Amino acid sequence: MDGDFSFLKQITEISEKSKAITIVDDAHGDFVIGKDGKGTPNHFNVTKKIDLYISSLSKGLGSFGGYVASQNNVINLCINKSKSFIYTSALPSFLIEHSQKRFESNREKQKRKLETNTKQLSKGLTQIGYEINSITHIIPIIIGSEKSAIDFGKFLYNNGVFAQPIRYPTVPKNQARLRISVTAWLSKKDIESALSVLETAAKKFKIV
Ligand SMILES: Cc1ncc(COP(=O)(O)O)c(C=O)c1O
Repeated sequence: MDGDFSFLKQITEISEKSKAITIVDDAHGDFVIGKDGKGTPNHFNVTKKIDLYISSLSKGLGSFGGYVASQNNVINLCINKSKSFIYTSALPSFLIEHSQKRFESNREKQKRKLETNTKQLSKGLTQIGYEINSITHIIPIIIGSEKSAIDFGKFLYNNGVFAQPIRYPTVPKNQARLRISVTAWLSKKDIESALSVLETAAKKFKIV
C-alpha cells in the first residue's frame, strides 16, 4: 500500500536458514517489475528460492483471475484442497487465451513506457508539493482522515481521474490514502491532465 518493495532477498535468506516456505503474492509486481516484467523475485534475483508464487491477472495484465506457480506436489494439493477452486466455475477460455498471449509477448517495451509514465507523474506530483515516497508505479497520496480521502477521491473522479481511496483496515487508522496506479497506456497528455486536476485538488483540500 506504500508502493515500496518487501525485503525479499533477506526474507528468502531467513526462510532458507529456518527451513521455512516462502510464498510471494506478487499481484502488483507481476508483468511490470523485473526483467521483461517477470516479477519481483526476478528483480531481486531470487526466483529459484520462491516456493509458491501467487499472482493476479487483473493488475499488470488488465484481465481477470489469477494463478499459482509452484512444484507439482503443491499444485496438486491446491487443485484437490482449495475450496475456492473446487466450488467455482473455471475462468472463461477467452480470458485464459488472452492471458497466455500476453505471457508470450515481449513486455519490456510496455515496461519502459510504464517507467516513463511513473516518472512523469511522480515528478509532477512532487512539483505540486505532494510528498511522494513511492519507488514504483503504485503511488499513494496520504490524506489522513477517512472522510477526507473519500471526498478527495470523489473530487478526482468527478474531474476524470480514477484513484481508489484506501481506508482502514487495509491501512492503519488516520493513514487513509488515494492509491494512484499508473498504466503504460496513458499518454503524456493524459498525465498532464491528471496533474492539473491533482493540483486543483491539492489546493481545494489543503493537502500541500
Ligand atoms: C496483493 C494483492 N493480492 C491479490 C489481490 C487480488 O487480486 P484480484 O482482484 O485479481 O483477485 C490484490 C487486490 O488488490 C492485492 O492487492
